[in-house]
Amino acid sequence: MKRKIAAALLFAGLLLLLAGLTWYDRALMQLAPAAGQPDSVAQAPADAEGEKLARSCAYCHGRDGNPNSPLYPRLAGQTEVYLRQQMLAYSSGRRQNAVMSPLAQRYSAAQIDTLSRYFATRVPRKNRGLRRVEAIAARGEELVSRAACAGCHGPDLAGSGEYPRLAWQSDRYLYEQLKAFRDGERDSRDDLMKAPVAGLSDSELEAIAHYLATF
Ligand code: HEC
Ligand code: HEC
Repeated sequence: MKRKIAAALLFAGLLLLLAGLTWYDRALMQLAPAAGQPDSVAQAPADAEGEKLARSCAYCHGRDGNPNSPLYPRLAGQTEVYLRQQMLAYSSGRRQNAVMSPLAQRYSAAQIDTLSRYFATRVPRKNRGLRRVEAIAARGEELVSRAACAGCHGPDLAGSGEYPRLAWQSDRYLYEQLKAFRDGERDSRDDLMKAPVAGLSDSELEAIAHYLATF
């Protein structure tokens, strides 16, 4: 009799343990980052340090560097060299922004390297919820080809090295940056961005931004 009770208790204990493990597993799965975007190719494995540092950027730039708001730049798939340069430009004061300047100063050169590598190896996503208006995009395309933007920003405007990727960048962000270059409010290396946007109207810059964002 005693043995039967002991066996029953043991069995009940095992069941509880199993239930507990299942619950624990589920809780862990909820904590773990969601799997990569179903419509994208596999991400390069993230180094743990990069992933940890990038949490401080997630609120604005998205956890994987793909922002939800068109005001924030997409960091995913941006070139590593350019990302590093911009972080250093914010911390040295060459590029000014109320949010990014003080923030960039908090990171060491090694941490900036880690963050740049992390975001450069995330897979960029198209702008969701942005409908391409063909007439505007066509006007943008013509302006981009007239100014030979791809000569520096690369075939498919995918960037390389010091030349940033433009394709799929956030549209409001692009528009603001193009205006800042035109109006002398943002410097570029050797003033390379001055001539391409000189004399363009706001609506021409808007068309360019729309073309690039919906590339
Ligand atoms: C509170 C919002 C916010 C947070 C948090 C934030 N950023 Fe930014 N970031 C911005 C905004 C806004 C801009 C555009 C600034 C401008 O106009 O110069 C920007 C621009 C940048 C750029 C320039 C991108 C380009 O295409 O030129 C880089 C690089 C960048 N952020 C990296 C980071 C990193 C790395 C972190 C985390 C350590 C981070 N940001 C956290 C808001 C944020
Ligand atoms: C002669 C080379 C050159 C040409 C041509 C050129 N660019 Fe650039 N562009 C650059 C460089 C270099 C940068 C990085 C600027 C910096 O140092 O901050 C840049 C930066 C940019 C940025 C900022 C990206 C970001 O993430 O903040 C945008 C937008 C841009 N270019 C759009 C264009 C467009 C549109 C054209 C054509 C109308 C164009 N560029 C033509 C060299 C060029």
